[in-house]
Amino acid sequence: MINFVRCNKNEAMTPLINLNIVYNKQSEQVVIVPLTMAMLTQADALSASQRAFLQSKAEKKELFHYSFFDGAQALLIGLVDETKSHNRVLELFRQLGSEMHKRCEDLGFEQVLVDAAPLDSQCLLAFAEGYLLAGYSFDKYKSAGRPVVKVKQMNIISNFARQEELEKLRMICTAVFGCRDLVNEPLSHLNAENLGDLFMEEGKQAGLKVEVFNKARIAALKMGGLLSVNRGSEDEPSFSVMEWKPENAVNKKPLVLIGKGIVFDTGGISLKPSANMEEMKGDMAGGALVFSVMKLLAKLNLPLHVVGLVPATDNRPGKNAMVPGDVITIYGGKTVEVINTDAEGRLIIADALSYASHYNPFLIIDFATLTGSAQMALGKYAMAGMQKEAGKWLDMIRHFGFATHERLVEFPLWDEMAKGLDSEVADMKNLGGKFGGMMTAGLFLAKFTEKPFIHFDIAPVAFSDSAEAYTPKGGTGFGVRLMIRFLEALVEEFAEIK
Ligand code: BES
Ligand code: ZN
Ligand code: ZN
Repeated sequence: MINFVRCNKNEAMTPLINLNIVYNKQSEQVVIVPLTMAMLTQADALSASQRAFLQSKAEKKELFHYSFFDGAQALLIGLVDETKSHNRVLELFRQLGSEMHKRCEDLGFEQVLVDAAPLDSQCLLAFAEGYLLAGYSFDKYKSAGRPVVKVKQMNIISNFARQEELEKLRMICTAVFGCRDLVNEPLSHLNAENLGDLFMEEGKQAGLKVEVFNKARIAALKMGGLLSVNRGSEDEPSFSVMEWKPENAVNKKPLVLIGKGIVFDTGGISLKPSANMEEMKGDMAGGALVFSVMKLLAKLNLPLHVVGLVPATDNRPGKNAMVPGDVITIYGGKTVEVINTDAEGRLIIADALSYASHYNPFLIIDFATLTGSAQMALGKYAMAGMQKEAGKWLDMIRHFGFATHERLVEFPLWDEMAKGLDSEVADMKNLGGKFGGMMTAGLFLAKFTEKPFIHFDIAPVAFSDSAEAYTPKGGTGFGVRLMIRFLEALVEEFAEIK
């Protein structure tokens, strides 16, 4: 529980250079005192050695955050170079927030008072965001139950942040947690049918219109990508359609969001190696993201018409599984020669992309944990973005990517790279050449729509093999914070046009 407490102590201090968080063991109080570089030398809270250490770091321009903990005193110091961008400062505050979460839990504080009177609201909200996001754990299958959260209440003294902003932040963080939960859920507890049921139940509760197609309906629609990937499975596929269409929507044509919903990817007959294969329970992270964003859209009651599509199945070898060489027909009639059954994501997204044209969207965006090559290229630092006639929208998303620290790097979709997809027996193969796999995957998808289109390969960022600051090991919930900022900006954009 976090609250803002109003107070009118100080004037805003800009630019903010240093942040010093001191806790007092007796009063269980955490105080955020912005310090100037000059003040660092006199800060009472610092010992001589700490002061010397920080000064040497500052001189070498090694500017980040440091924490000292000597039992009697805990100290978090954030040093930000004034020349660094505002986005960098915001990220530092998120990291400080997560650091404080860890410290307060370690110390077993029940009530915390944060004195942040002079901090501007953006910095303070970033701090609160880092604090809240760090409070996630996926422990529902631990027989001992959830570890007890020690900090029951945190009050923040602020001159500038408003309670409504904090309420919204809380909703966004809840959506991030929901997304992480879905990604972390194993196949044993979440198959494609379960996923559709969950979307139906929770989506309706949130106020979305939800329809979930079962296998018979998917077959009747001739969604050959989804049906073929599903052939090795005992479980039925699902195709979820969610819609948010408020009466006051500012856009005439909708935005369509598509999320890859592979609830587990073994690779199928082109079986993956077993090392780290458990991470493939997160191969529906795109679907989880789309659902989380749709739900949040409804919760925040944004006046924007958006449709979410999530094709879902597991991909595994089985008696009747799709094999390399098979020719399949995607929804709408295009044929694909399957060279590798592990390149399954593009097959089910192709169905959804073709299906999306029924909505006559102004823009289609898909999110998919699509290729290892995007991961190879970007580490865990950014998603790969590709676009066709949607440069303006991608630029906007890139901007908010920096603001939220959910960043993207654009890769091109150049025609000549699509040659590798040519097939002698069908309209195309499902595999390009050996190199630049994230781009051939993007080019494959681009063949299935004439609309402005953005493809996000979130394989680098959706699932993390280690915890870092406010991002846990496992499902990261990447993209929720970014997308909601983009959708809010779209409302402004369309309202201006109107
Ligand atoms: N789900 C994987 C991609 C992936 C890899 C996601 C690592 C997250 C982490 C996807 O279905 C896949 O297997 N892609 C293949 C494509 C290849 C066969 C062209 C890949 O990237 O190896
Ligand atoms: Zn695969
Ligand atoms: Zn996959």
